[in-house]
Order: sequence, then structure tokens, then C-alpha cells
Amino acid sequence: MNGMAAARAAATTSLIRVERLTKVFGTATKALDAVSLDVPRGQFLCVIGPSGSGKSTLLRCLNRLVEPTSGRVWVHGEEITAQSGEVLRRSRRRLAMVFQQFNLVRRSTVLTNVLTGRLGYQEGLRRFVPGFSPEDRAMAWRSLDRLEIAEKATVRADQLSGGQMQRVALARALAQQPEVLLADEPVASLDPETAVVVLDYLRDINRSDGITVLCAIHHLDLAKKYADRIVAMRQGRLVYDGLPGDLDDAAYRRIYGRLGYD
Ligand SMILES: Nc1ncnc2c1ncn2[C@@H]1O[C@H](COP(=O)(O)OP(=O)(O)O)[C@@H](O)[C@H]1O
Ligand SMILES: [Mg+2]
Repeated sequence: MNGMAAARAAATTSLIRVERLTKVFGTATKALDAVSLDVPRGQFLCVIGPSGSGKSTLLRCLNRLVEPTSGRVWVHGEEITAQSGEVLRRSRRRLAMVFQQFNLVRRSTVLTNVLTGRLGYQEGLRRFVPGFSPEDRAMAWRSLDRLEIAEKATVRADQLSGGQMQRVALARALAQQPEVLLADEPVASLDPETAVVVLDYLRDINRSDGITVLCAIHHLDLAKKYADRIVAMRQGRLVYDGLPGDLDDAAYRRIYGRLGYD
């Protein structure tokens, strides 16, 4: 096998393959330091680690919301880091994202927010024609139903509670029909009861739709409850990779440098 063929064969064994991904901000901040990671299809992967350890940067480099300094990312055997233009745009819609601050258009309705999940499917001339197709609308309504928030469709996003906003953001992500959901601290702005509700939806999306989830999360107990696998970051490096049940005090000290929650 030549080098290219070998690389392709290796890349197809996982849904996501990350190879020595590095991100340097400015001249000194190494947010990611040669991170390598394979994520099989269907996994619910939690990324933990102290504030500033590189969790957000890792997730954002996967869909090139942040441009990596070096290293490579494959999704489904296609190298995202080698793509540009329309090809990159198509890859990006396979990776939906939700954020701590929900990132809704606050003055728009819930339905309009969810419809924006369909924007990645407007190709060619359609991109210049305002409006959404009946198929786009049907998909948006299905997603709203799925998150049990369809009754809020005509309500302005800024009228919702935090938990409802995150459900709308999840509906928008689902409307994108992604293979992967990147969730960056999706429950960090929510109270503990609401956090569990939102994570239950996230788990259902993972289990029922087979959508692979990468979830940066601050709370170790929640990571242990929901993850199939936990990886931990510290100063831009992966310092733990294992099963939730194997994350013991020694591993915890390695990750956080001490015992106790931060
Ligand atoms: N846009 C940016 N410009 C400069 N430095 C950044 C930027 N984003 C993140 N960083 C730095 O990169 C490091 C990792 O940050 P981040 O990925 O946000 O960590 P985490 O999500 O684990 O809190 C931190 O030192 C942070 O200050
Ligand atoms: Mg972060």
C-alpha cells in the first residue's frame, strides 16, 4: 500500500480521525498541542479538562470554525483540513454545533432559528433565492417535534428560558441532519435540573439517531453519567482517554493537578 492508500484506509476505520492537531494563537498560546484522537461512529464522547485546556479549540478545529495551525482531521474518510470552498461547506454540514450561550438569533422566532439549520443545504442558485423549500420546513418542524418544543415555534427566541433555548439550538442542529454533534459546554449556563433534561435529549439524539456526539463539559459527574468514553485535556494535550468508570482519583489529579472540583 502506498502512503495515500494507507492514510485513506486508516481514516475510514473511525468516523472522526484527528492526527497531531495543533493550534497556536498569536505567537505563544498553544491551545492544542499535537492532539490525536479517533472517534467511532455512534459514540458519546465527553471532553473534560480545566478552563483554558483547549476543549473549545479542539471542537472548533474539527469543523474549521477555528483554523488549525497544523495537523489533520478526517470525517468519514475525507480530510476536512485539505478542503475548501463548496467541498468544505458540504463537509461542515455533517458537523452540527451547539454552544454554551445557545447562539440563537434572539429577535427571530424559534422556527426561523431552526430553519437556519437548513442553510447549508442551499446550493447553487438557491443560495440567492430567499426562503426555504417545503422539505426544509418539514425538517424544521420534525426537529421541533423531536425536541418537544413545537408549540413555541412562533415565539421569539429571547422569550424562552435557557433550557428551552438550548432545546431550540438542538432542534436547529438536528435540522442540519448531521452525522456529528459538537456540543461545547451545552449545559454550563443551565441550572442542574435543566442540565439533566438537556443532556437526556442529547443522549436520545445520540442513541436513536446514531449521531456521534462530542461534548465538552465541565461537570465530571455529568460526564460520567452520559459518556461512553471520556477524554481529558490539560494545557492543550490529551492526558486521559478511557471509560467513565475508570476515571479514578489518580487520573483526576493528572487532569486537574489536584483533588476536588474546580
Ligand atoms: N480566539 C482566541 N484568541 C487567542 N487565544 C485564544 C482564543 N481562543 C482560545 N484561546 C486560548 O487558547 C487556550 C485554550 O482555550 P479554549 O480552547 O477556549 O479552552 P477551554 O474550552 O478548555 O476553556 C486558552 O489559553 C485560551 O486563552
Ligand atoms: Mg471552552
